[in-house]
Amino acid sequence: MNWEAILAPYSQVVEELKVKLKGMRAQFEYEAMHSPIEFITGRVKPVKSILEKAEKRHISLDRIEDDMQDIAGVRVVCQFVDDIYTIVDMLRSRKDFTIMEEKDYIANKKDSGYRSYHMIIEYPVETIHGMKVVLAEIQIRTLAMNFWATNEHSLNYKYKGRIPGDIKARLQKAAEAAFKLDEEMSKIKTEVQEAQRIFRRK
Ligand code: GTP
Ligand code: MG
Repeated sequence: MNWEAILAPYSQVVEELKVKLKGMRAQFEYEAMHSPIEFITGRVKPVKSILEKAEKRHISLDRIEDDMQDIAGVRVVCQFVDDIYTIVDMLRSRKDFTIMEEKDYIANKKDSGYRSYHMIIEYPVETIHGMKVVLAEIQIRTLAMNFWATNEHSLNYKYKGRIPGDIKARLQKAAEAAFKLDEEMSKIKTEVQEAQRIFRRK
């Protein structure tokens, strides 16, 4: 398989989504409003990970583009939980892609302790062969959720998905602490934002 050719539209989509989301952040800043976006990252799933996931999920290679929803992935990281839903509303009103699925792992956290808001979208991208509709996953989470997920992901990688019980228990406690942190920060949100506005003016 010519992976570079297959993945080219996906990296185009990741780049376009990053530009658009960064554009939203800049607009908030120009209008001297609190930006609900702290930072944005994106990636195309490495071929090795695509192959591993295809094997695990019994996805045949000719079905990958339809059945694997996260070949193109972007992540929006926010300061506050409220910001996540502000982004979600804004994404829902956009006309440049179609939302196929939404998963609220904040209202319904996963057993692992994972929290995040996920959207699967169909994004039309222009290629040298004409327009192609590509699936992409947008993950929206707070800094605290991101901190937890990044560390848990590293441990999953290290232990090949079989994290020892005692470490799992610690991760659960850490997830609880991250949740508390988000809650406490929400309570002083206006204070924090006011401080940040003053700081920006200087
Ligand atoms: P995959 O988990 O990607 O195989 O697909 P899925 O159909 O189960 O979708 P789901 O919404 O569960 O997960 C999509 C993505 O969310 C994953 O690829 C991860 O990036 C992230 N994710 C889901 N669960 C966890 C978790 O327990 N820990 C971490 N660190 N990330 C998770
Ligand atoms: Mg999963």
